[in-house]
Amino acid sequence: MTTASKERVKKAMKSVGINTLTELANEVGITKNQLSVILSDRYNPIKATFFELSEVLRVTPDKLIDFQSNGKNKPKCRALVKHNSKYSAIELFAGGGGLALGLEQAGIDTILHVDNDKYCCDTLSKNRPNWNVVCSDVSKIDFKPYKGKINIVTGGFPCQAFSYAGKKLGFEDTRGTLFYEFARCVKETAPLIFVAENVRGLISHDNGRTLKTIIDIFESLGYNIQTKLLNAVNYNVPQKRERIVIVGTQKDTTIKFEYPKESKKIKTLREALKNVPKSEGQTYSTAKKEVFKLVPPGGCWRDLPLKIQKSYMGKSFTSGGGRTGMARRISWDEPCLTLTCSPSQKQTDRCHPDEVRPFTIREYARIQTFPDDWVFAGGMGQQYKQIGNAVPVELGRQIGIQIKKAIDTYKK
Ligand SMILES: C[S@@+](CC[C@H](N)C(=O)[O-])C[C@H]1O[C@@H](n2cnc3c(N)ncnc32)[C@H](O)[C@@H]1O
Repeated sequence: MTTASKERVKKAMKSVGINTLTELANEVGITKNQLSVILSDRYNPIKATFFELSEVLRVTPDKLIDFQSNGKNKPKCRALVKHNSKYSAIELFAGGGGLALGLEQAGIDTILHVDNDKYCCDTLSKNRPNWNVVCSDVSKIDFKPYKGKINIVTGGFPCQAFSYAGKKLGFEDTRGTLFYEFARCVKETAPLIFVAENVRGLISHDNGRTLKTIIDIFESLGYNIQTKLLNAVNYNVPQKRERIVIVGTQKDTTIKFEYPKESKKIKTLREALKNVPKSEGQTYSTAKKEVFKLVPPGGCWRDLPLKIQKSYMGKSFTSGGGRTGMARRISWDEPCLTLTCSPSQKQTDRCHPDEVRPFTIREYARIQTFPDDWVFAGGMGQQYKQIGNAVPVELGRQIGIQIKKAIDTYKK
């Protein structure tokens, strides 16, 4: 038996600004009495009016239900949220919410956020109780019910190799990869525009064949494709961080996307960390501390005495390449180097300018342009991971603005 949860309904009412049951009944187009029946303990809510109620409250029906019998009755296919916004979106691989938050700041209305990591989903739900966060493997989600309800699909699918065996791959041949799942979502929902971001490495992955396959498949699904490597530092983010941004716009339509324009001003670490709140953070081992004490702001292993260079670098000392990420201390007057999922890995160390320690959680978040009130779920390692994996919020916002402009160019 499933029954509507009055508590959940009240919470959802609050998040959409509906204050009374009379107001809610009016919005749904039923009488207050009919609403009381729906919310009564004996009512089995999986009926048409209940779906209308959930649409008004902008949540999926299961978010309003008390699942008894251990949730066994939970519907397999999530019903969709009816939406009127022409900027409504689905976000896949939402992580700790960098891109999702940036898109929200741009005014995009994401009606479904998907990630299979518990901590990421907790982060999204904690910060935005009104978001429809589905914590699931993306391959388990049926996107067909969202067709006609969204205009945008976004997300960064983790890059995986395809097996070619010398042949040109079609959409079905990439089954089993996360790219396939992203492309399936596009195929099933037919958005006007989609944006897929990825690491720079995708460009050279398998000598460029992976990216070529991805583009060919998106084109075969009916999209014109643009790709561009964006460096976040050129978009008001105090960090050098490159991401390839693949944009698909429906063929045979008027829709036109332009990448955000680069800013002339570069943000420094000093600006990024001004009045940063105190928070927890990792520390270095005693041996590492002794090494970093010798590195000036803006410096790296090259600033160490030769003997220490050799012992600290080990094999890397002779293996060539600049290795300028090693024993790197950031200066106040430069942007930070790319943050990674863990703040004290030997190849990608970024030491605080004045203190002998990695950046704290809130410093990490500032460098990724998360607002100070965006909290991350899980232990310290999980928090660093979510932040280090994110699209900088500000870059997401600027991409979001361009997505909206593109949709405005669409004429039927
Ligand atoms: C690079 S992170 C995304 C970061 C996010 N775009 C942001 O801006 O914060 C990739 C995410 O994909 C998620 N992921 C990986 N495999 C998945 C799957 N099979 N189904 C759903 N999510 C998955 C991971 O948990 C991770 O959070």
